[in-house]
Amino acid sequence: MFITFEGVEGSGKSTQIKLLENHLITKGYNTLVTRQPGGSILGKNIRELILDPEQQDKPSDLAEMFLYLADRSHHIETIIEPALRSNVLVLCDRYIDSHLAYQGYARGFDLEKLQLLNSIATKNIIPNLTIVLDLNPEEGLRRVRYEREQEVFDRIEAEKIEFHQKVRNGFLKLAEKSPNRIKIIDASNSLEQVHHHIINSFEQLLVKK
Ligand SMILES: Nc1ncnc2c1ncn2[C@@H]1O[C@H](COP(=O)(O)OP(=O)(O)O)[C@@H](O)[C@H]1O
Ligand SMILES: [Mg+2]
Repeated sequence: MFITFEGVEGSGKSTQIKLLENHLITKGYNTLVTRQPGGSILGKNIRELILDPEQQDKPSDLAEMFLYLADRSHHIETIIEPALRSNVLVLCDRYIDSHLAYQGYARGFDLEKLQLLNSIATKNIIPNLTIVLDLNPEEGLRRVRYEREQEVFDRIEAEKIEFHQKVRNGFLKLAEKSPNRIKIIDASNSLEQVHHHIINSFEQLLVKK
């Protein structure tokens, strides 16, 4: 099984993946938690290239779009696909829907072309379940700011609020298009409430299987 977590910065993806992982381990599942970009060694380097706000030669929007795809294709081939083949339950922090929300809805690249590029990059590996943690991006960025001692944002977090709003709306539109795969969860609730809703979505998935 392959489960992905999506949502704006600070919506609680890392927190909720950890909580779900702990829950699944107590239920006896063999799990792998990973992320995009940065789930492989090559991917960590690509993540730096994309997110480092200090670098001199920042990637253009188009180069950024391809950097995410390079990370995703390598990560699928070397980490996710082998894990799924060994019956490991994979939990991934961001996947194709983030590409569509950020590069498509927010940066303006054509959605159908992005879909095609992603299907090539991922060999058409589609998650069984995608959790979108829906949150007002201002609240998400407030959480991120609160968590950090210094106010340092990476290159994407530092985008203007309108950009993050487009990302949020993009996720909501994607969920409308794939209601069976994508579940929207209100991430303004408490950690425990959000966790509870995620477990419900997971259990519904087991019933469907
Ligand atoms: N439901 C919640 N209510 C309040 N704070 C939260 C909630 N979920 C996460 N946080 C806090 O918000 C910050 C960002 O959460 P994180 O899981 O890192 O988000 P993401 O991985 O989506 O960027 C962390 O400090 C986390 O403890
Ligand atoms: Mg995170």
